[in-house]
Amino acid sequence: MQRRTFAMSAALLTGAAALAVTTTPASAQAAKVKVGFMLPYTGTYAALGNAIENGFRLYVDEQGGKLGGREIEYVKVDDESEPSKATDNVNKLIKRDNVDVLVGTVHSGVATAMAKAAKDSNTLLIVPNGGADAITGPMCGVNIFRSSFSNWQPAYAMGEVAAKKGAKKAVTITWNYAAGTESTNGFKESFEKGGGTVVKALNLPFPGVEFQALLTEIAATRPDVVYAFFAGGGAVKFVKDYAAAGLNRSIPLYGPGFLTDGTLDAQGDAAQGMYTTLHYADGLNTPRDNAFRLAYAKTYKLQPDVYAVQGYDAAQMLAIGLKATGGDVSKKPEFAAAIEKAKIDSPRGTFTISRAHNPVQDIYLRKVVGKENKLDGIAIKGLSDPARGCRS
Ligand code: BEZ
Repeated sequence: MQRRTFAMSAALLTGAAALAVTTTPASAQAAKVKVGFMLPYTGTYAALGNAIENGFRLYVDEQGGKLGGREIEYVKVDDESEPSKATDNVNKLIKRDNVDVLVGTVHSGVATAMAKAAKDSNTLLIVPNGGADAITGPMCGVNIFRSSFSNWQPAYAMGEVAAKKGAKKAVTITWNYAAGTESTNGFKESFEKGGGTVVKALNLPFPGVEFQALLTEIAATRPDVVYAFFAGGGAVKFVKDYAAAGLNRSIPLYGPGFLTDGTLDAQGDAAQGMYTTLHYADGLNTPRDNAFRLAYAKTYKLQPDVYAVQGYDAAQMLAIGLKATGGDVSKKPEFAAAIEKAKIDSPRGTFTISRAHNPVQDIYLRKVVGKENKLDGIAIKGLSDPARGCRS
């Protein structure tokens, strides 16, 4: 009886396998690539998460919905920029949804947990924002890529700019988590190399916006400049509070471009004249950027920002990897080799990917004029993150 059941099942299985082979000879190629977005859709970084998803989808749609010959499908998880939920959230995508590629996230702490889970499960990960230096430092790996920046990059450029403008005494202020700490450290490194001193490093817990006591401390310290890392909703509130306290009249407020990118409508007059450094700017006026901005505005009825560009370029990097592997995400070394030798045709300008899988890119100096982060020059050309601790 048992033997008969086994024999019947085997016959059925053989038949099913034969059917699969004869009716869908290209079944492995035809299967969709499942992209798992893990992004903040709520909280202070919600607008950033939405812009990244918009940018990613725009590139895929421009390719007719296919990358490397395979259709793309999406699943998504709201990570709430909450590190304590990050491992559970990323495992939903890896273990429950069986995604082929993880795309996320914004918050450095959450992105670091994603990188660990991606490493442990050998899942492809493209980070479209989170700048944690460790992701392309000690955690670097064959399956881990970043389409954005390391926290060190725009910060290091701003420290050089501030020193060259003749500032001697700076105060830094930020949220107390990896992005804030690494950004203010990057600023301090080049500012002090250029002859300045960071006399005070202020911080508050993420995503707090109780800035008043800290602004009073800045006023009492009277530095030449303030360097601040905030982004999203927190950046809007900080820039407005800084101006409301009258500090912008006597102490220039500098930062990485996150302080004013995607936020100018809400910041209004408070941001006028501010200098920031970033790998994207308004008014690049290249055919590539103009085409991207037009397509984005038409599709979403919104102006793109740096986060939209990073999402768009994450999709471009996935396309390069899939094309090189014939759509086979298990071929990690071939996938990585193709990205490592690519020149990525980004709206920000062409960039390459370092051995540690972080963009090597121009960092622009921008000045807020009206509703734009206007290009004011190139702060550092082709800046590569030092990738401290990466041994790949
Ligand atoms: C970060 O956490 O790495 C980050 C968040 C927002 C903007 C830039 C960096």
